[in-house]
Amino acid sequence: MMLLPLLVLAHHVPSIAAWPWIANAPGIDLSAMYAHPENFPNQRRQTGLDPTCPFNPDHPGAAPFDPQYPYTGSIDGLPGTGIGGIQVPAPGDTAHAFTPPGPNDIRGPCPGMNTAANHNFLSHDGITNLAELVSAQQNLYNLHFDLATFIAVRAIALDGDVVTTKLSIGCDATERTSIDPTGTLGREPGLNAHNKFEGDTSLTRRDYFLNNGDAFTFQGDMFADMYRVANETSNGLFDRDTIAVYRSQRYDESLAENPNFYFGPKALLLYGAASFVYNVFPVFGPEGDADIDTISTFFGAVPNGSGGYDHVPERIPENWSNRRTAYGLLEIGSEIAYQYGRFPKLFGGNVGTNNFLALNTTFGLIENGTLPNEVTAKDLVCLLYQLAVDNVPGTVANEAELPLEVLTWVLTQINPIFENTGCPLKIT
Ligand code: HEM
Ligand SMILES: *[C@@H]1O[C@H](CO)[C@@H](O)[C@H](O)[C@H]1NC(C)=O
Ligand SMILES: *[C@@H]1O[C@H](CO)[C@@H](O)[C@H](O)[C@H]1NC(C)=O
Ligand SMILES: *[C@@H]1O[C@H](CO)[C@@H](O)[C@H](O)[C@H]1NC(C)=O
Ligand SMILES: *[C@@H]1O[C@H](CO)[C@@H](O)[C@H](O)[C@H]1NC(C)=O
Ligand SMILES: *[C@@H]1O[C@H](CO)[C@@H](O)[C@H](O)[C@H]1NC(C)=O
Repeated sequence: MMLLPLLVLAHHVPSIAAWPWIANAPGIDLSAMYAHPENFPNQRRQTGLDPTCPFNPDHPGAAPFDPQYPYTGSIDGLPGTGIGGIQVPAPGDTAHAFTPPGPNDIRGPCPGMNTAANHNFLSHDGITNLAELVSAQQNLYNLHFDLATFIAVRAIALDGDVVTTKLSIGCDATERTSIDPTGTLGREPGLNAHNKFEGDTSLTRRDYFLNNGDAFTFQGDMFADMYRVANETSNGLFDRDTIAVYRSQRYDESLAENPNFYFGPKALLLYGAASFVYNVFPVFGPEGDADIDTISTFFGAVPNGSGGYDHVPERIPENWSNRRTAYGLLEIGSEIAYQYGRFPKLFGGNVGTNNFLALNTTFGLIENGTLPNEVTAKDLVCLLYQLAVDNVPGTVANEAELPLEVLTWVLTQINPIFENTGCPLKIT
């Protein structure tokens, strides 16, 4: 029984030795693979050199923080004060003024990161690193140090390099991110990579398999769709109810239309990313309105005159101030619980058209493909930890290998920030 998938997948998995381990990992249903070998090629991730990825010889690094404009005071990836309510960019801070990307700068699927790079909170070429990511998220958006670290570490472990801590916020730039620029140790695909951090059911990006592998380009008709839901749900506001309804709709669309739809445990992070729209983008965070002007500025959406939207570079709205209180792991856990609780969905994936297989093994709290009804924010924080340190199914029929050196690095980085959560931690 083990032989067939091993042979079929031999070209796509980095190490066959990984499989026995995967087979015993919670949440992985190998029967789906056995049943539909014809779909294996479609479940493959895009790996390998990307000749279309732009090259910018100029890597300026994030603009250094001027002591006159310290924001939350995070430098070099260290914790800041967590005290926000600060105008960004501060009047006079020209170093963080809007600077549109040039043709050689890398941008990707995350409006938060694209905006940060367009204001030099991250290196303008789109090649960044752990320290920049952790400081930028605190100083620009007033994310809590714990959440800022968690997201950055996840992204670098999945899509970047744990030795250099470098990451491309878009396409594969292995020659600039990797400790091994030749790429022989493996490619580092950047945030564009499918089913690592990026996944199906995004707000404004199409599913990978529905758009020739482009799951990172802004789609104006999808933005209009989200706005329509805002009009119908919350008088035009992109608040938590709008986002919950719209994410539910996006799931239903992917389920119906995408024969390779995958919604694994990691999709919980997509509810988290969606919560930034109403808890981080508005002026002063949840105190301000997540209105069309604010949200479209961060997404780079401009009306095209016939009901859709074009894309311009993402930017911070004028006179914008970040949230007063830091947005941390517990806060994001509570928003994931809220959105999921409004419209519970099955975790699993399509293996061909109209052939949905729910994950029927247990991953953390996820049992029979769903979260329990009474899930708490704290439960979700612990589940986020498990997502980062356990082998999680990456696609219905794909490897979910977490090489030991990557796991060790992740544990070293995130165990300290989960110390006070009460979650059971793995030992390094
Ligand atoms: C290290 C930090 C971060 C990384 C690596 C990161 C990466 C990503 C990635 C890969 C996606 C695509 C997920 C998908 O497929 O839907 C995404 C989506 C998103 N991110 Fe980030 N993100 C980070 C921080 C932030 C912050 C601080 C904000 C807001 C202030 C933000 C706002 C968003 C939003 C709104 C989306 C949804 C976009 C859509 O679905 O159209 N992100 N992020
Ligand atoms: C939402 O409502 C506003 C105000 O009525 C209107 O201008 C806009 O066209 C509507 N957008 C969509 C997508 O329905
Ligand atoms: C505007 O966007 C809509 C939806 O994506 C599209 O159907 C329409 O052709 C676009 N119009 C123009 C003038 O680009
Ligand atoms: C920003 O604030 C300045 C000073 O208070 C004001 O003159 C300007 O009109 C504001 N701009 C916007 C877009 O609100
Ligand atoms: C899990 O799903 C597979 C494929 O649908 C099925 O063959 C298997 O019996 C299921 N296992 C359980 C415990 O329900
Ligand atoms: C999951 O399904 C199994 C088999 O049908 C059942 O015994 C178990 O009680 C279910 N668990 C939950 C939490 O629903």
